[in-house]
Amino acid sequence: MAEVAYASASRVFAGSPPVRAVDALDLDVADGEFLVLVGPSGSGKSTALRMLAGLEDVDEGAISIGGRDVTNVQPKDRDIAMVFQSYALYPHMTVGENMGFALKLRGMPKTQIRDKVAEAAKLLDLSPYLDRKPKALSGGQRQRVAMGRAIVREPSVFLMDEPLSNLDAKLRVETRANIAALQQRLGTTTIYVTHDQVEAMTMGHRVAVLKDGLLQQCDTPRALYDHPANAFVAGFIGSPGMNLKTVPLTSTGAQLDGIAVALPRDAMTAASAQGLSEITFGVRPETLRLATPEEDGFDLVVELVEELGADAYVHGAVRISDHSERFVVRVDGRTPPTIGQKVRVALRDHTEIHLFHPETGARLTD
Ligand SMILES: Nc1ncnc2c1ncn2[C@@H]1O[C@H](COP(=O)(O)OP(=O)(O)O)[C@@H](O)[C@H]1O
Ligand SMILES: [Mg+2]
Repeated sequence: MAEVAYASASRVFAGSPPVRAVDALDLDVADGEFLVLVGPSGSGKSTALRMLAGLEDVDEGAISIGGRDVTNVQPKDRDIAMVFQSYALYPHMTVGENMGFALKLRGMPKTQIRDKVAEAAKLLDLSPYLDRKPKALSGGQRQRVAMGRAIVREPSVFLMDEPLSNLDAKLRVETRANIAALQQRLGTTTIYVTHDQVEAMTMGHRVAVLKDGLLQQCDTPRALYDHPANAFVAGFIGSPGMNLKTVPLTSTGAQLDGIAVALPRDAMTAASAQGLSEITFGVRPETLRLATPEEDGFDLVVELVEELGADAYVHGAVRISDHSERFVVRVDGRTPPTIGQKVRVALRDHTEIHLFHPETGARLTD
């Protein structure tokens, strides 16, 4: 059993003002789960991971691993293994020696170390390279040696801090699939940090989104995408991002380009209960479509067309009261409009509108 629990755990760095790098984090990770911590640079991801590893103090609250409070336990006694962005392999040791080093320090017999290293090397496709030095390996192979070093220790939790950021884009995509498959096979509770939301969405059983040290939402990739808890998560998850605009609100709906976009009744009720005269309106590029000029919708002047083959993304300007705002619309890649053209844009589905409080960003409806 190795579930992990942060209970109102904070790390506050001294300074004026002090930095609450991780602010009252409440997060439960189930035994065997692959949880991804994602957020922009400086949001507190590494600090949260280092608190769990015991490399950073917990100034408030507590952390437990497998039901045991480890808040004041030494890093070496926490039964975790960490993989960092910089693999820091020992250059004078072979791959096999690098992988077995922690076991040697534990005083494990040589033959047993050799077996464990051979087993991990097989999982990681490193068997032919065990006698090489790290400098004779590719970046991807070195990254796998770093993984191997963690695996042989058979910890109850793996912690990974941006372990793929030194790899090129193609290798990164391959390796993330390999890590996810490996985690599945080993069934070891894993907490994985990345700033890349695509990586987060493709790897995690659940994804925890951090901003300014505060947990914004923790849920499955699907739920984060379909049901973001606030405007920050809505804009952060998804590529290209959700169109998020703060627009005037009248009794008939959200005002765009002189037309009122009808909003769900519960949203209108929530907005009027809070006395809002504006609303933050969110719609993903795939929820919009090109329409004929006779259809209800709003006009967009095309500024850029991103052709991706099957799809194209049309970027353009839409008038909102006295200024214009940029929108992105996904269209069929075979018949994209041209730059400078004025097109009518309509909603595919009114139920896929997301609405947020214009100041707090909180989601207005369930
Ligand atoms: N040792 C430190 N001393 C002071 N501030 C720190 C220290 N480490 C991190 N911070 C601050 O804490 C915040 C979170 O940092 P970090 O956890 O590294 O973010 P991330 O990994 O999400 O990029 C940042 O504002 C950073 O400047
Ligand atoms: Mg970091």
